[in-house]
Amino acid sequence: MRTHFCGLIDESSIGQTVTLAGWTDVARNLGGVCFIDLRDHEGIVQVTVEPSNAEVFAVAASLGYEDVLQVEGTVRAREAVNEKIRSGRVEVIATRITVLNKAAPLPFHAHENPGEETRLKYRYLDLRRPEMQRMQRTRIKLVQALRRHLDAAGFQDIETPILTKATPEGARDFLVPARMHPGEFYALPQSPQLFKQILMVAGFDRYYQIARCFRDEALRADRQLEFTQLDMEFAFVRERDVQDFVEAMIRAVFAEVVGADLGAPFPRMTWAEAMRRYGSDKPDLRIGLELVDVAERVKDSGFAVFSGAANDPDGRVAALRIPGGAALSRKQIDEYAAHAAKFGAKGLAYIKIDAAGSVSSPIAKFFDEAAFAALIADVGAGNGDIVFFGAGAYGRVCDFMGALRLKAGRDFGLVAEGWKPLWVTDFPMFEWDEEAQRYVALHHPFTAPAVNDIAELRAHARTAVSRGYDMVLNGNEIGGGSIRIHRPEMQSAVFELLGIGAEEAQAKFGFLLDALKYGAPPHGGIAFGIDRIAALMAGTESIRDVIAFPKTTTAQCLMTGAPSPIPEAQLAEVHVRVRADGASE
Ligand code: AMO
Ligand code: AMP
Repeated sequence: MRTHFCGLIDESSIGQTVTLAGWTDVARNLGGVCFIDLRDHEGIVQVTVEPSNAEVFAVAASLGYEDVLQVEGTVRAREAVNEKIRSGRVEVIATRITVLNKAAPLPFHAHENPGEETRLKYRYLDLRRPEMQRMQRTRIKLVQALRRHLDAAGFQDIETPILTKATPEGARDFLVPARMHPGEFYALPQSPQLFKQILMVAGFDRYYQIARCFRDEALRADRQLEFTQLDMEFAFVRERDVQDFVEAMIRAVFAEVVGADLGAPFPRMTWAEAMRRYGSDKPDLRIGLELVDVAERVKDSGFAVFSGAANDPDGRVAALRIPGGAALSRKQIDEYAAHAAKFGAKGLAYIKIDAAGSVSSPIAKFFDEAAFAALIADVGAGNGDIVFFGAGAYGRVCDFMGALRLKAGRDFGLVAEGWKPLWVTDFPMFEWDEEAQRYVALHHPFTAPAVNDIAELRAHARTAVSRGYDMVLNGNEIGGGSIRIHRPEMQSAVFELLGIGAEEAQAKFGFLLDALKYGAPPHGGIAFGIDRIAALMAGTESIRDVIAFPKTTTAQCLMTGAPSPIPEAQLAEVHVRVRADGASE
């Protein structure tokens, strides 16, 4: 249907007759002459229709936005050059225009932003926009580059099942009723974790897969119900083998796809240090602000909230100095407090020192003059600064002070340009879940502990460190992995510590425990979030922009209308009945 792509026509085609196909980006009838911007996936070319060609002119004059055309014409040098586009030095003088398909009046135009709901409902129109095409292409290039890198390094691309058994990664499972087994269900994989480990037992040595993962969890800008991982596993490796390989790969791919230099080597930080300095296990190192611990200084103060946390071994009192922060109004300070509250803060104390050096603070009353001056000196605050304080349980203070650090970084323009990758290592093995009154795995239950000795792990479970690691880029967790447990006794011990009894372990993970019995090599791996990396590369905040057909934050596909009710007869086939009251129990 065509001889050339619109966007690629240039001076080399001058004098030639070409056939093009594409969409009417815009058609302008200037009376004397008609101009059509004809668009395909490569870009736009100007089609010029002269009135001398009455039949073609009549067609051109009747065109509307997004009509689909086939155009035949001759390429000519253009007088009014458009330097912004590749085809800007030429135009195509139309000799024939065939309307392949008329477009109905559009719900919105390419240059408008009608809001995300409309964009998602008419996703095909949204995706036609050059910006969306650019972002998809970035993602495509990313995946191509990763595949090239891994194929060249001898990794084997192996598919793992989508209809499978639950693989716990900390989210809720999506379930699929099994028609042939009434009352039984498949689970969609939260990741290929167990299969890739079993592939190592099976002797494949190095595996990768661009794998779709499914997690029924709350959606955010960086989270979807289904998302794509670059999933990898290596046999006979230690942490550094995996990390060094993938660090080089990520560095190469960023250079190749977006010309970015991530620097070498990536800085490394333990989880404990990341929490202490940044209040986050995925610190955005583009922001220079750091938390300062002030427990020592406030442990004898008259403010019970501070002294209580300062004297509690599981507590924390941390300060965040924001240079220039004294400019914040009362109302803005309240906004900071409200932001902190979203992350669990019960209050947000502050000390504000205005440009002239006068101090205002709701906690001054709890300190004598010398202690208050010492507190200010501890955090290095000076004229023009504000210092926020957080007190409470360690993890909670990290959460809300870390969130404040990010907000302050953005609000005060303290986010440096460029790329700041890092490795976060030495994660705790377990986290105590207050609600459930039991340990949960911080990574997943197959992550090896740093200690080899089961008795020692049991004795010090609370403080045990794992062999897990995350790769962080500009405050985003882009990848996470670990060295795995490869001995069945250790795996059983970890299940037990997680409150998974022998019987339950056998029922859920018997196949893994079996596989580990029959000669499992030491192994480890990692998975990267393709959507997150693509979003970073494309320079967008939301992974929805780099997913062709994403779900909304309310977990719906506005284009297809999924999820949707299923007729009773079809449900009966899979032995499912929906409760009329919609209750879950
Ligand atoms: P993890 O759960 O850390 O590890 O996932 C790996 C990476 O996948 C991305 N990611 C997501 N992206 C979009 N939406 C989501 N809901 C979502 N959840 C995770 C993140 C994350 O770093 N099996 C282990 C990997 C391993 O141990 O090898 C796993 O899945 O970028
Ligand atoms: P109060 O005397 O109770 O009004 O508290 C004095 C200041 O401490 C107020 O600005 C509160 O917002 C703040 N505050 C209360 N609880 C905390 C907390 N857990 N961490 C930090 N600041 C707090």
